[in-house]
Amino acid sequence: MADELKVLGVCGSLRKASFSMAALRACKELAPAGLSISIANIGDLPMYNQDVFDAGIPQPAKRFYDEVAAADGVLIATPEYNFSLPPLLKNAIDWVSKMPNQPFDNKPVRRLLGVAGPARRRARSVRRAQDPRSSSGASCCRGRKSSSARAQTKFDTDGKLTDEATKKFLTDLLAGFKTLDRADARGKPK
Ligand SMILES: Cc1cc2nc3c(=O)[nH]c(=O)nc-3n(C[C@H](O)[C@H](O)[C@H](O)COP(=O)(O)O)c2cc1C
Repeated sequence: MADELKVLGVCGSLRKASFSMAALRACKELAPAGLSISIANIGDLPMYNQDVFDAGIPQPAKRFYDEVAAADGVLIATPEYNFSLPPLLKNAIDWVSKMPNQPFDNKPVRRLLGVAGPARRRARSVRRAQDPRSSSGASCCRGRKSSSARAQTKFDTDGKLTDEATKKFLTDLLAGFKTLDRADARGKPK
């Protein structure tokens, strides 16, 4: 692994005031020395269609594939939609999952799930996502899961993270990218 760890942030929400995106921005600020975070744009990927794929993979899908491939790790921040992953995120994963040389393989993936949901519903989503067969996240995208409930109480009106406990939670999460064990490196959940 390179000296400077490159982590790709992927957001499951397009909403301007998205808590998930706010969490990724906070991670950029909290990143330890030697770890950089760039945030992918998956909003311009067309909806997956095998006919389109066969005719030639669209440039935005190729770009996302290349970004995942170039990263040392992936950090996904997403809300849950009806106890599952938002179609935006699932669609991006679907495109990549059809391409050769799976870039999610052998790569640590961390998922921040249910960023804004009430605790009980969020917990259900996290449990589902722990089983790749029941998760919409596809088996190509397994990895450790973390969750943060009631995000609306943790960010100010400008989307800046103000909650100290959450800052510590994210700081520790990011530090985990720097102390990967073998199970992580294989991308398997523990
Ligand atoms: C279509 C839809 C389905 C949702 N389903 C859930 C859900 O299953 N569980 C939950 O906790 N929140 C659910 N929510 C609420 C979202 O978690 C909440 O709006 C969140 O703030 C969106 O994330 P964002 O702030 O990153 O845009 C849903 C929202 C939408 C629009």
